[in-house]
Amino acid sequence: MFQHNVSKEALVGTATLGVVFAAGYLIAKRRYTFDTMDIFKSHSGGKDHPVLQYVLNHSMREHPVLKKLRLKTFEDPLNFIMVACEQAQFMANLARLIKAKKAIEIGVYTGYNALSLALAVQDDGHVVACDVKEEYTNVGKPFWKEAGVDHKIDLRIQPALKTLDDLLAAGEAETFDFVFIDADKQNYDNYYEKSLQLMRKGGIIAIDNVLWSGKVVNPAEDDLDTQAIDKLNKKIHRDVRVNMSMLTVGDGLTLAFKL
Ligand SMILES: C[S@@+](CC[C@H](N)C(=O)[O-])C[C@H]1O[C@@H](n2cnc3c(N)ncnc32)[C@H](O)[C@@H]1O
Ligand SMILES: *[C@@H]1O[C@H](CO)[C@@H](O)[C@H](O)[C@H]1NC(C)=O
Ligand SMILES: *[C@@H]1O[C@H](CO)[C@@H](O)[C@H](O)[C@H]1NC(C)=O
Repeated sequence: MFQHNVSKEALVGTATLGVVFAAGYLIAKRRYTFDTMDIFKSHSGGKDHPVLQYVLNHSMREHPVLKKLRLKTFEDPLNFIMVACEQAQFMANLARLIKAKKAIEIGVYTGYNALSLALAVQDDGHVVACDVKEEYTNVGKPFWKEAGVDHKIDLRIQPALKTLDDLLAAGEAETFDFVFIDADKQNYDNYYEKSLQLMRKGGIIAIDNVLWSGKVVNPAEDDLDTQAIDKLNKKIHRDVRVNMSMLTVGDGLTLAFKL
């Protein structure tokens, strides 16, 4: 449990840094048992966490219609699957930073992040939104319209893999700027590979739930979702096609920058 896989090479730097790292590691090892995570989304596990509340109080600049959609989504008992608003804002800032025009949302649910991306992409840009359940996406649609960006959201109700294949068949390889992967976990590697084909150089693939409530640290033998996520995490770490970071925001977010 709680092993670190940082290679010896990566730790070659100053000896002092090595000592600090090792000391921190030992203290952490003694203090933590890892049944559940101590990082989480502001609206589910982190709801009553004062530090997360502080983060929200001092960072959220939520569009009024995004706020309305968030509160509407909170009426659904499944709302813990919604993206954390602080994470959506971060990804929208990233999309603006790279002047994203074309984005893909893989797993829409009630469309909070699809709306957030539609507000972030350039005026002539759009978001291809992939989901299989219209009962979820129907919740978001009126809010997309109210925010005046419904024309920028191209919703496709069919398995996301089919939509990604359709985009490739339509000659859209290497034209997308930003992809958010947030649907069924056992397809994560497929989504990642298709997304890489669809991205331009410098495009960003954002992958949600990469910590899966901490279960990736020690995947159970019969837990195929956790195993799929852990396998992809390991693959991306050594994937020379991208630069990458794994962030402890929400349920864990990996950013892969296509080289
Ligand atoms: C975690 S939720 C997405 C949350 C969303 N990104 C947001 O902003 O709140 C996952 C979604 O993936 C959808 N989904 C599951 N399997 C899918 C598939 N094979 N293709 C497309 N969507 C799928 C589910 O219907 C669900 O709405
Ligand atoms: C956050 O803001 C709410 C509402 O203003 C306030 O009740 C709460 O004390 C604040 N919490 C922190 C940690 O800043
Ligand atoms: C990727 O990371 C390497 C360092 O690990 C850096 O030299 C390179 O410039 C990066 N490429 C891009 C496009 O950011």
